Amino acid sequence: MTNRQGVWPTAELHVHIEGTLETELLVALARRNNVELPSYDPDALRELYRFTDLQSFLDIYYANLAVLRTEADFYDLGLAYLTRAAAAGVRRAEIFFDPQTHLANGIPLAVVFGGLTRALNEGRENLGISADLILCFLRHLGGAEALATLDAAIPYLDQLIGVGLDSAEVGFPPSLFTEVFAKAAALGLHRVAHAGEEGGPDYVHEALDLLGVERVDHGIRSVEDDHLLEVLRERRIPLTVCPLSNVCLQATPTLAAHPLPAMLDAGLIVTISSDDPAYFGGYIDDNLAAVQQEFALSPEQMAQLARNSFQAAFLPDAEKRRYI
Ligand code: ADE
Ligand code: ZN
Repeated sequence: MTNRQGVWPTAELHVHIEGTLETELLVALARRNNVELPSYDPDALRELYRFTDLQSFLDIYYANLAVLRTEADFYDLGLAYLTRAAAAGVRRAEIFFDPQTHLANGIPLAVVFGGLTRALNEGRENLGISADLILCFLRHLGGAEALATLDAAIPYLDQLIGVGLDSAEVGFPPSLFTEVFAKAAALGLHRVAHAGEEGGPDYVHEALDLLGVERVDHGIRSVEDDHLLEVLRERRIPLTVCPLSNVCLQATPTLAAHPLPAMLDAGLIVTISSDDPAYFGGYIDDNLAAVQQEFALSPEQMAQLARNSFQAAFLPDAEKRRYI
């Protein structure tokens, strides 16, 4: 299953570009843009990454994003991820970004799109990665702000393949975002949402029934609800599972206790991704290696995860067949 470099060719369907900001680049951008950090030692900054839950991570993650100021910053961030992803075997990347964070920092959408799209073009041409952007709404800012963000992004629709929903989950259910997801669907955009990461199975039900999502991001708490497992299986809804993220954010006490085997046993279309690799100790290859080792997955099971990732990608069937 592995190729000559020892990596699994795969699609990465759940990665936040802001979560790929390694502390070395964080320090370089802080110096470039005169932004204050708690330390300018990359190792010391990484030492601060000890999380107890999703919010404890989000607090640091959002604060760090103050260093992203110019189109060149977004380009450097995007290209650094794509370079690392190519080495990890990624052939297709569907990349989340959080424009509301950057708008709140005074950065226009044109700067964000300009830098990221230039990086994606470069990745396509020089690294052999097919990549597209998915705009995520921050659920803690609510539905009206999400709608305003989608409206502001309409001039950039040709640089997007879909919308997503991220940030603090509990207390911000999918039902708050029905209008913006309906509008995104009418604009021809794909729809995904984080659900069942910290929130219960009801969040996953809502994401499916009220937002019409085509994939569920995380969805690990789905295993608590047999009826939901049946719905996910019957509707063939893929789940983008990020094991090292779930351990770091204590969504699962240990990797051994992760519900991945139960999800596979339930016949779900599971894919593996890295979420925020600069914070959670590993890229997609590290996540794949960790679950292979922890659950003694067979070569056939690893091949199935890779096939699932391309099957679940937002690509025309003819293009998927090139990878599967
Ligand atoms: N934003 C970045 N990473 C996230 C995660 N794991 N859950 C929700 N929002 C996020
Ligand atoms: Zn995520």
